[in-house]
Amino acid sequence: MNIMTLETVSLDENENALLILDQTKLPGTVDILHLKDIRDIWDAIKTLKVRGAPAIGIAAAFGLYLAALQSRANNYPSFITGLKYAKCYLNSARPTAVNLSWALNRVYRVAETHSDKPIPEITDLLRLEAIAIKSEDTETCRKIGEYGLTLIKNGDGILTHCNAGQLATSKYGTALAPIHLGREKGMNFHVYCDETRPLLQGARLSAFELLADGVDTTLICDNMSSQVMKEGRVSAVFVGCDRLAANGDACNKIGTSGLAVLAKYYGVPFYVFCPASTIDMTIQTGSDIIIEQRSPEEVTEMWYSKRMAPEGVKVYNPAFDVTGHELITGIVTEYGIARPPYVDSLKEIFTTKATASNPSH
Ligand code: MRU
Repeated sequence: MNIMTLETVSLDENENALLILDQTKLPGTVDILHLKDIRDIWDAIKTLKVRGAPAIGIAAAFGLYLAALQSRANNYPSFITGLKYAKCYLNSARPTAVNLSWALNRVYRVAETHSDKPIPEITDLLRLEAIAIKSEDTETCRKIGEYGLTLIKNGDGILTHCNAGQLATSKYGTALAPIHLGREKGMNFHVYCDETRPLLQGARLSAFELLADGVDTTLICDNMSSQVMKEGRVSAVFVGCDRLAANGDACNKIGTSGLAVLAKYYGVPFYVFCPASTIDMTIQTGSDIIIEQRSPEEVTEMWYSKRMAPEGVKVYNPAFDVTGHELITGIVTEYGIARPPYVDSLKEIFTTKATASNPSH
């Protein structure tokens, strides 16, 4: 079975369960989970069974619809109270990626807007909104891929970190979208995947999906990127993003900012890929972004046959870091490529977005 033909996150055909590809088991085992209970959906997001900013937003959107479907409320006030609780609960699963709250708020607003309708009708509208979020994500990633393809040429070497590919979205990915789209067009690139300690999203997920798509892929440890850039193997660095501030500071998987520093040193262009839903214009700079802290065991024992660090050692395990806007060559969105100064170009992106969603104005 080719992983590229499977859905990362979807609604099952009876429309009463969330289906996710369990990413903690990849690449060894391809397992699809059927989740109905929002506690299981919360846990799947928390434990990275579903991960990547757009994918957790989509999963949570379906989760909120399922919470509505299972609601026993017989009047609107108790229905919306229960829904608000479910929204806050799902949102608490992970703090950094803004797509989670963005998708939950979008679905929740539908319930608020249609307060005059019967509960089953509102529930159905929530289902449609969650489906729309998912299908728009595919279209968005495709456009991001098209813009990304203008930055590279056939045969280029691209370095990527973590997994901002199909497994992190509904299709194509963000940073890996140009690579997958390029494959559709008969192009090929040489992709270097950082293994991405401690959870190995690069080794387990990006390398897996790129190979499945027939991409020329080389896995490197995180501490090898400097040498690979120095040897002139990298034409550009392509990374995803979990939350982007109004000034262009980009929060992504831990290790990303170090890569940006190296890229600057070696004169390699460094591009951040993200949908507009990842841009948080309420946050002025990256220092306002909450960085998720994860458990010490991810560093000391996960993926090892036995614990590899001494008992009692202190562990610091931030899951993300912030790359300063001054290190970023361009920000690739579905509305085009923003260039410095980002305070202006990101505003322009949102102006284009507003025009695209309301063409008569
Ligand atoms: O902890 P993860 O695996 O959810 O982190 C994912 C990333 O950092 C991705 O680069 C980001 O979410 C963009 S996914 C298109």
